[in-house]
Amino acid sequence: VGTDDEPPEVVADRVLAAWSAERVAVPLGARTYTARFEDGASGAALAAAAAELAPTSIVLVTDSNVAPLWAAPAEAALARVARTARVVLPAGEAHKRLGTVEAALAEMLAAGADRRSVVVSLGGGVASDMAGFAAAVFLRGVRWVCAPTTLLAMVDASIGGKTGVDLGDAKNAVGAFHQPSAVVVDAAYTATQAERDYTSGLAEVVKTACVGDAALLDRLEAEVDALRARRLDVVRGVALRCVRVKAAIVGRDEREAGERAVLNFGHTLGHALEADGGFEALTHGEAVSLGVVAALRVGVRRGVTEAALADRVTRLLAGLGLPTALAPAQVGRAVRLIELDKKRVGRQIRAILMRAPGDVELTPIDVDELTRGFVDAANFAPAPARPLD
Ligand SMILES: NC(=O)c1ccc[n+]([C@@H]2O[C@H](COP(=O)([O-])OP(=O)(O)OC[C@H]3O[C@@H](n4cnc5c(N)ncnc54)[C@H](O)[C@@H]3O)[C@@H](O)[C@H]2O)c1
Ligand SMILES: [Zn+2]
Repeated sequence: VGTDDEPPEVVADRVLAAWSAERVAVPLGARTYTARFEDGASGAALAAAAAELAPTSIVLVTDSNVAPLWAAPAEAALARVARTARVVLPAGEAHKRLGTVEAALAEMLAAGADRRSVVVSLGGGVASDMAGFAAAVFLRGVRWVCAPTTLLAMVDASIGGKTGVDLGDAKNAVGAFHQPSAVVVDAAYTATQAERDYTSGLAEVVKTACVGDAALLDRLEAEVDALRARRLDVVRGVALRCVRVKAAIVGRDEREAGERAVLNFGHTLGHALEADGGFEALTHGEAVSLGVVAALRVGVRRGVTEAALADRVTRLLAGLGLPTALAPAQVGRAVRLIELDKKRVGRQIRAILMRAPGDVELTPIDVDELTRGFVDAANFAPAPARPLD
């Protein structure tokens, strides 16, 4: 927003216009890009974003579940911009591996992609992590545009330029920072998500509100039913606010030197619970929901989080259909995984505790103290629910 020589009311109007425009900038200097919002899965906004990059050709990278559902209109719109090849990755986290990326790179080369080609990813976080990584390394780096099709990818994976694959048991152990040139968010895609996947994405939405948007927390509470019904305008509005929070944090700390770590709120125990369940018993979002509940309880114990706030967020998660009951045996096993990992994380761990809605703090805590806190959280019996008034 230009402000030079303008009266305050003109500047205020411009700021308001920029704020309400459904475009969010991820401010990274020369690599700044925008997330745009479109409705209806026509691929029009995706094609417009690709056209701005004047590509010699386009490689549409999608996965085997998304391709039959959503690829055709996107591909048709992109083909009007430049010659478009389609690469279909096998769906699922099990395929998020170097071998899959290598096969995709070979297809890109065979399709005649060059250094001015653009990769367009259309899929969830698995597809975008791999497509972005392929773009990062193909001919030492080509541009890419990200079109997320899961709620999780819309609010989290599509923003921030972390790309990569798993290696052995190590999640996301190989990768690169490679920011997309644009992100196009279309909530319409969530309509075909499996119920459990969609609901899991809501956990990251609640997390985002907790760490950076108090008003979003209010809104989520008011829109629980609409969110569960995937009302398009509500999903889109919520995704927009989440993207704003993540974009601002990434803009201040692209490489996670500090502040970006707050996005891992609920993830210390969450990751351990996910691993304890062999990455099958719990989805990532379900594990994060439980991790958030535990982090809230640790915050209460340490006098950082008010009990009423902890209860409020826990109720919201439960209302959205996410698990909130910490089973002591399960937490006990997960905590042992964190303790075993002490060699890697060191004796101190940066705990993320919630001070107030939209406000968390990073606090170094001794690993043993934190894990004791998680165990206490699991043994904490919540007060009996008040009778409905
Ligand atoms: N790069 C980042 O910053 C970042 C952040 C968070 C998560 N991630 C990564 O994201 C991945 C998880 O993302 P995800 O939950 O989107 O998983 P996913 O991409 O595996 O999608 C979940 C399932 O839904 C299917 N699917 C995708 N879109 C669909 C649609 N519109 N309709 C029907 N089915 C659809 C997929 O084929 C898959 O089977 C993890 O690998 C995680 O590491 C990355
Ligand atoms: Zn997460």
